[in-house]
Amino acid sequence: MNKSAADAAVTDIPLVQMRGITKSFPGVCALANVDLDLYAGEVLALLGENGAGKSTLIKILGGAHAPDDGALKIHGEPTLIAGPVDARRLGISVIYQEFNLVSALSVRDNLFLGRENTHFGFLRKQHERTRAVDLFKRIGVAVAPEVLCRSLTVAQQQVVEIAKALAVESRVIVMDEPSAALSPREVDRLFTVIRELKAQGIAILYVTHRLGEVMEIADRAMVLRDGEHVDTRPVSDLTREAIIEMMVGRRLSEEFPKKPAAIGRPRLTARHLRRGTAVRDVSLELFRGEILALTGLVGAGRTEMARLIFGADRMDSGCVELDGQTLAIRTPRDAIGSGICLLTEDRKQQGLVLGMSVIENFGLPNMSRFAPWGWISRTRERQAMDLHVDRLQIKISSVRQPTRTLSGGNQQKVVLAKWLERNAEVVIFDEPTRGIDVGAKYEIYHLLNHLADRGKAILMITSELPEALGMADRILVMHEGRISGEIRDVASATPEQIMALAVK
Ligand SMILES: Nc1ncnc2c1ncn2[C@@H]1O[C@H](COP(=O)(O)OP(=O)(O)OP(=O)(O)O)[C@@H](O)[C@H]1O
Ligand SMILES: [Mg+2]
Repeated sequence: MNKSAADAAVTDIPLVQMRGITKSFPGVCALANVDLDLYAGEVLALLGENGAGKSTLIKILGGAHAPDDGALKIHGEPTLIAGPVDARRLGISVIYQEFNLVSALSVRDNLFLGRENTHFGFLRKQHERTRAVDLFKRIGVAVAPEVLCRSLTVAQQQVVEIAKALAVESRVIVMDEPSAALSPREVDRLFTVIRELKAQGIAILYVTHRLGEVMEIADRAMVLRDGEHVDTRPVSDLTREAIIEMMVGRRLSEEFPKKPAAIGRPRLTARHLRRGTAVRDVSLELFRGEILALTGLVGAGRTEMARLIFGADRMDSGCVELDGQTLAIRTPRDAIGSGICLLTEDRKQQGLVLGMSVIENFGLPNMSRFAPWGWISRTRERQAMDLHVDRLQIKISSVRQPTRTLSGGNQQKVVLAKWLERNAEVVIFDEPTRGIDVGAKYEIYHLLNHLADRGKAILMITSELPEALGMADRILVMHEGRISGEIRDVASATPEQIMALAVK
């Protein structure tokens, strides 16, 4: 007997009930005896440090992994999920962080991909177009059905993924770090959509590392630590501090360990950088010992600007000076040679070779350090890696583990480790804490302090306003390829003040 979602809500039977879920990979127990209840019309936040097992649990629910042990009920009915198709048939849609959209197809084709339709040709297209428009209306965001997915922003792609879930009448929508690539405004928009879905009785499982979002959107929070279920509690009973304690198993004295900086002479000066419409005349100065935050909306030109300084893209005009000397940077190799490092935001595309092991990725840019006389000192490489694994709390079963099999946040930490190993004078961090758990964020902030203390100049591109306000000595805001404002008195600045400059 199948109960409808409405019945489930009334009778308080969870829409999804997972019991004793256990899953091991070679060398690691990703989940041990985990229980989960998810009710119709609620948002359940799934929290935990990097490698805690969140994505694994979600993949089991989505049919991408089979559990080693455990039981599942949907609407109170014992069920097996044999694969992704099965999950979809049961009304479960998972939006993974790497979207599953086919970029060369239109929005409409993506929405109805692989589904039987009795109409053909023109009629079918018409029908699908109307359906698509209806779906977007239900979500409350207009996306043109005939546009190719590759030309959509990340936020729009997310909306298409949600529409795809609604198109198959999903009752459960799982989102794995949906806000990671969104600007604050787009996150607001996403939350409006989520509230709308909730009101329609849809159950939402939401993975995030941003506690502010948990407090704002979630009804209950479930915490995993090292593959074990710590607790699930109503958010109204919790504070930020309490959630952090549940996640890391200890109390953090403060979130942003900012130390007073000794700011010295100008180190890096960029003059009138331009490239197409992305960067339209940007000048900035970065001082020794300074942490300068560069913020703004996604697409404001922050990353593009950093890539110009790093030589990853050619500038149309402008110049970069280091200690008063004009640099001739044509390639990243030139920049690295001059002591400038860029830690990229996109680990998948620029930061890591996923097929290689952790230690190989680590050694890659550091060849000359570990191979001073032409051969690589494996011992030195290994010692340096171990230090970072320890300091950044990178969760790996061995340094030989393929990078592909690390959790998202741990991949990010490997990117950090490999660049930190270089002794750069100017370090540009592009979204250094994206996808990183609170405990490790804290370690990264300490590391920034440490670098600044040693007279390094740090440019930190960040979309997280609390982070900019908590860690920077000075904040620059970008808007449409230009610097739209500067905040010198960071201690008395507010997020609203930054937002006003970002949308100016
Ligand atoms: N295919 C795999 N092969 C081997 N180990 C894996 C595989 N997938 C996940 N793991 C391991 O399982 C553990 C849990 O990983 P999972 O991706 O579930 O973490 P997570 O909570 O999603 O972390 P994050 O916040 O970093 O995304 C990690 O130690 C990870 O390295
Ligand atoms: Mg994950």
